[in-house]
Formats: sequence, C-alpha cells, structure tokens
Amino acid sequence: MASRGRPESKSAAFGVHMDSIKVVGGAELNGIIPISGAKNAALPLMIASLLTDETLTLSNVPRLRDVAQLMQILSNHGVDYSVNGKRSGQDELAGQTLNLTAREIVDTTAPYELVSKMRASFWVIGPLVARMREARVSLPGGCAIGTRPVDFFIDGLAALGADIEIEGGYVVVKAPGGLKGARVEFPKISVGATHTIMMAATLADGETELVNAAREPEVVDLARCLKAMGARIEGEGTSTIRIQGVPRLHGAHHAVVPDRIETGTYAMAVAMTGGDVLLQGGRADLLDTALDTLRQAGADITQTNEGIKVYRNGNGIQPVNVTTEPFPGFPTDLQAQFMALMTKAGGSSQITETIFENRFMHVQELARLGAQIHVDGRTATVDGVSMLRGAPVMATDLRASVSLVIAGLAAEGETTVNRVYHLDRGFERLEDKLTRCGAQIERISG
Ligand code: UD1
Repeated sequence: MASRGRPESKSAAFGVHMDSIKVVGGAELNGIIPISGAKNAALPLMIASLLTDETLTLSNVPRLRDVAQLMQILSNHGVDYSVNGKRSGQDELAGQTLNLTAREIVDTTAPYELVSKMRASFWVIGPLVARMREARVSLPGGCAIGTRPVDFFIDGLAALGADIEIEGGYVVVKAPGGLKGARVEFPKISVGATHTIMMAATLADGETELVNAAREPEVVDLARCLKAMGARIEGEGTSTIRIQGVPRLHGAHHAVVPDRIETGTYAMAVAMTGGDVLLQGGRADLLDTALDTLRQAGADITQTNEGIKVYRNGNGIQPVNVTTEPFPGFPTDLQAQFMALMTKAGGSSQITETIFENRFMHVQELARLGAQIHVDGRTATVDGVSMLRGAPVMATDLRASVSLVIAGLAAEGETTVNRVYHLDRGFERLEDKLTRCGAQIERISG
C-alpha cells in the first residue's frame, strides 16, 4: 500500500523528544545487523528531485527523522511524494521506496522554521535557482558542532552568475538569465557545497569545473543518480568534477548507497564489546581507513558476499591514533564512536579533529562513565581504563549520542542516554538492531 500526502504523521512517530535509551553493559554482540541506506546520500538525492518535473524514485531510503523532515520541506516547495509500504515477506528493516515528483515548484522560499532544524535542507538552494532562477533560503541550523558557514555555497553560486544578497537571515539568490557554467574552486573540501553546486550546474548553460571537490561516496552516489536523470557529469570520486549543463533532466530510479557511518558505528560497537557480527549489505570499500584503524585496534574484519564480518575475541583493545580527514581519510562522523572505543584501550591514544572545531562535546559525557580524556585544542588524548561504569548521560549531537551507546554497551551496570531524538535523526532502529545481537538496550518513552 502506498501512502500519500504531507509527512506530519510520520515525523510524529519520532516526535517524542523526551525518549531515552537504557543500556545495561557487558553483553557481547553476536548475529546479523542489516545496514540501511545512507542518510547523507538520501538527503541530497531527495533534493535532486527538485531538478525535474518527472518522478524520481529512490529505493533503500532509511526511515529516519531527517528524511521525514526533508519530505516536509520538499512538499512545501511543491514536491508530491508517495511512500511504498512494506510488502509481505519483506524484512521489516528493509528501506523504503520514495517517489518524488516536482511537477511544479509552487514556492521558492525555504523558511527558517524548517531549514533551522536540519542543515542539509539549505542545499535546496542549488536546484531551486537552477530550475526556477530564484530562491530564498533561510540560513541553516543542524548539529551544534561548529560554526558551519555557507560562504562556499554563496561564492559557488555567484561564480555561476547568480546575484546573491543576505536579507533578514535569508540567502536570496537570483539568476534571471539562468546559471552559466564556470570554474569553481572550493577553498576547503565541503561535502554540502559540492552536492549543491554540482546539482545547480547540471542545468547551467555550458561547462562547470569543480576544483577541490569532495570525494565522499555520497557525492559519487548523487552524481550517479543525476546521470541517470540525464545530467552529464564526469570525475565524481576525484577532486575535479566536470559538468556539462543540459536544458532539462528527467525521471529516474536510484538505490541509495549503504550507510558507511552506520557500518563503521556497529563495527566499533563489536570491537568494543567483543563478539561476531555480520554487517549485512555493508561495503568495506566505502570505509577502508576506518576499518584499517579498527584492525589495528584488534578487530578482525573481512568483506564477504553478504557484507562485512567483524570479530573480536577476548583480547584487549589496542590504542591507535587517528586524525579526521575528508574522504578517503578517517571520517569525522566516526570520531566520537572511535573515541568511545579508545576509552577502554590498553594504553593512550590521540584523536585529532580537523573538520569541525567544536566536535568534542561527547568528551564530558564519556567522562561521566569513567573515561579519562584530556582535550587540548583539536586533539583529545584518551588514556584507556580497564572499566567504565554506567551513568546517566546526555546526547549532544547525532554522532556523539551513538558514541555514548557504544560506551554504555561495555560499561558495568546501567547507562541512560537522555535526549535520544538526536539518534533518531540518523540511526534507523538502533535499539532493535542491537537487541537482535544480544545487547541489553531499550527505549524508554518519556
Ligand atoms: C556533511 C555531512 C556531515 C559530515 C560532514 C563532513 C551530510 C548531511 N552531512 O556535512 O555528516 O560530518 O559532511 O564529512 O551529508 N565549510 C565552510 N563554508 C561552507 C561550507 C563548509 O567553511 O560554506 C566548512 C565547515 O565549517 C567544515 C568543513 O567546511 O569545517 C566541512 O564541512 P562540510 O563538508 O560542508 O559539511 P556538511 O556538508 O555540512
């Protein structure tokens, strides 16, 4: 059965903001964890539906609060959507299929009330101005992990010939004669700016060259989908992407790439607790650096036809130093989880964050469980302890919250993670997936 209409009822399912998660540590993880489609690919892919008046069908879309939120934003612009229901015999954890049709864009304004809840919704600015020649998009919100400005987006769209002004907290962009292809060199690698300018350039007049572009698998996934829609793109996955503008794009069907951050998160959970888990559908080539780091820490990791097998026997966790970097380096979105693992390593490790300046908010919460961590600028030194002890903790952002769950899985006694609505933004049925592998974890409705 398909359901249609506005997504309020779906977001309501995630709307209980006072939920917490209770973890009783000590159990090993054993079994199968199915890996969902990537949130960070699904969001730009959904936004790409604004580029065509035909239907874009996306399969393997994760059931997450950010996805429901973005549907609401897109429907505000006039995107009509339907969600394919669960077919009989289908695993209840299988992703959903979305049909998105922007036959007509009815509103080129993305209001503060919606954009402030999720930074990625700012990215609609690219497709809107490319197709409608104007857009008015509120400056974004999102996780509080740094200042996260939007200068690269503004400079990129300006290079494509748009006029841009900031008015009352809104970025107002106009290109009455349409966008024109150009060379855009990003001062620093930005995933969102690469997505946005790439989408905008698909409908520009002439060739656009993106220099110092992000190489993340989610950028490659978006480029593949845009190509299936008729865009002419080459070089995705390298730091120079070339786009030949075309007059229009058409509908397509695209399956969302597996979530490498979810994959790495569960791999770290297994490395933490010990046990033997198949990360079903996981693709090692999407996170080689993180998996190599985990091997150095003592996990046994192999790619099989069905996914990634992670195993750690009773031996201890080795300390390993990491520095976050753009892809293919160690991802910032796995930094907090890796820090949780290092809290129980047999020695001292250094974790350096180079992407976001304020991404150590999990440190003080991990300390509540007994972790020994000292932060100096952008480097945290973690002195492994032999035992963590359960305690009430607070989730501060999406990846930080899951790091507290990982620590709780290995802590003695009970850990309660409060404010788990952050988790629902980015992890599909986390507690179900972990329970199936033997963890003692449950959601408590607040
Ligand atoms: C995306 C991911 C996020 C991940 C991040 C880095 C999604 C929905 N989110 O976020 O999970 O942590 O990539 O891998 O895909 N910057 C500027 N000016 C700009 C844009 C960015 O200075 O105009 C800076 C940021 O402050 C940051 C760095 O560039 O220091 C990288 O940020 P960026 O890659 O843009 O992150 P997001 O795309 O927001």
